[in-house]
Amino acid sequence: MFRFLITASFTATILASCGGNSAEKKSDAPLTGEQVYMQNCITCHGVDGKAQMAGATDLSVSTLTAEQATAVITNGRNGMRSFSNELSKDEIDAVVKHIQTLRK
Ligand code: HEC
Repeated sequence: MFRFLITASFTATILASCGGNSAEKKSDAPLTGEQVYMQNCITCHGVDGKAQMAGATDLSVSTLTAEQATAVITNGRNGMRSFSNELSKDEIDAVVKHIQTLRK
């Protein structure tokens, strides 16, 4: 019985430290374009870009170049607000690549 307790708590310690390590790695990694989009854009544009909430453009039929989309996200335009304060340039580049994958 004593032996079983030691084994059990040892196993629990190993499992707990594994979990901690992988969580750390996750937060160090830069966000992917998809993650940036899921966290900042789906409330208005929806997961597939088609939601059009609050007058948002349907991104699946957007014809903007990457440069123009970057300008809209960075500076804002009408009902679309600027994201330059919370997103880095790399994150904006990544999310522009992601929204281009939403096009048909
Ligand atoms: C609060 C709602 C809201 C959020 C959040 C939002 N948008 Fe928008 N977005 C809009 C609206 C409204 C427009 C239309 C602007 C206009 O009429 O000029 C728009 C337009 C755009 C356009 C221009 C498309 C075109 O073809 O003209 C792009 C690109 C875009 N959004 C990308 C994004 C990205 C990427 C995010 C997340 C970082 C995001 N938006 C978050 C509301 C939002």
